[in-house]
Amino acid sequence: MTMTDNTAAIVGGPELPQERKLVTEIPGPESKKLMARKQAAVSKAVGATVPVFTVAAGGGVLVDADGNSLIDFGSGIAVTGVGNSNPRVVKAMAEQLNRFTHTCFTVTHYDSYVEVAEALNRLTPGDFEKRSALFNSGAEAVENAVKIARHYTGKQAVVAFDHAYHGRTNLTMGLTAKNIPYKSGFGPFAPEVYRAPLSYPFRDGGLDGVTAARKAISTIEKQVGAENLAAIIIEPIQGEGGFIVPAEGFLPTLVAWARENDVVFIADEVQTGFARTGAMFASDHEGIAPDIIVTAKGIAGGLPLSAVTGRADIMDHPQVGGIGGTYGGNPIACAAALATIESYEQDGLVQRAQEIGTTMMGRLNALASEDPRIGDVRGRGAMVAIELVDPATNEPDAELTGKIAKYAHEHGVILLTCGTYGNVIRFLPPLTMPDHLLDEGLRIVADAIAAA
Ligand SMILES: Cc1ncc(COP(=O)(O)O)c(C=O)c1O
Repeated sequence: MTMTDNTAAIVGGPELPQERKLVTEIPGPESKKLMARKQAAVSKAVGATVPVFTVAAGGGVLVDADGNSLIDFGSGIAVTGVGNSNPRVVKAMAEQLNRFTHTCFTVTHYDSYVEVAEALNRLTPGDFEKRSALFNSGAEAVENAVKIARHYTGKQAVVAFDHAYHGRTNLTMGLTAKNIPYKSGFGPFAPEVYRAPLSYPFRDGGLDGVTAARKAISTIEKQVGAENLAAIIIEPIQGEGGFIVPAEGFLPTLVAWARENDVVFIADEVQTGFARTGAMFASDHEGIAPDIIVTAKGIAGGLPLSAVTGRADIMDHPQVGGIGGTYGGNPIACAAALATIESYEQDGLVQRAQEIGTTMMGRLNALASEDPRIGDVRGRGAMVAIELVDPATNEPDAELTGKIAKYAHEHGVILLTCGTYGNVIRFLPPLTMPDHLLDEGLRIVADAIAAA
């Protein structure tokens, strides 16, 4: 018997009742049974934020094996912007499934890969000729962006920033800042990776963006040297590191310095991309045009796909066969991406992300004005976070953060934490979440904070 035999009739997508409904405790008996099987079969190192098993999801909810309907404030970590089992995506994938499932794009080509590349070249910031290449995961795309930048510049060093998260493969672990859980015990890491200070307005005394960038540039010049530096890689808004929005001017100053110094500027928009921040890409908010932009997560409605898009001269530089892979740009994932992109563009989801952001910011700022433990409310569009602190010292309060998340989970809200200090709660609802669920979820978060 498979884990889903008893739930075969359940269908996800936006037709699922858009309600929070708890019929058992969280986790319920079915999830607990499945969890016991998981523990006996799956590496313990693969954890779960909420200990339930999903049988269906769509709109703004996720239904578990016990029939509980949970409000989804996570989108599978910023993936299902267009909603789970989005009908456009399901239809496009079904059509492709019936044509063919795989050729390996580097064996024989197919047009959907090219169409995804065309869409990325059109949608990403920068009014210059671009090329794209497709991969499977965010980390794989980051690795390839660095490979391409090194090939193009003939240099080796890469600078990443404090609080950065770029993945769990060897190079991306090295680029990632946080030790536990991402790096501890997994070294040695790839060489020629250096770290520069970030603009973190809540914790750097409100340094203006240009001054913060000059500090980073000074570190880079003294500790690395532009003559050795292939690329700067940065998330325009730090994701796992705590939804840190750099002060205005930080990113453009870095871009200008990179351009003057023959350094490739790579924006890792794996978490911020595709309407999430109330613009198609977070780079758009500050009008920057990265030389290379890395995307994944929200690109394909939940299918594994990622991309590197950049200036044509940079992207065309490596030798034929130097870039690729068996599954990168799989035809089902490409079909899903084309339907997903159509949904962002035609269903008004950029606008919807702005509306969701306005609601979340309003409610969370109101809570913060009455509760000094909420030290900061920040984000853009539907990528919003609160940072929890000891009001006396402003020190991070990870314990309080954990309590709030646990309360939310037990009351039927999927809520994610993040941050170098583990004291940030992040809000990433699907952009298809109806207002009444957004309201109810935020009310439960308010209850959770009050109870903690
Ligand atoms: C900014 C950023 N880069 C890279 C990654 C790695 O992506 P993946 O988990 O698909 O390898 C993530 C994942 O959370 C991310 O947020």
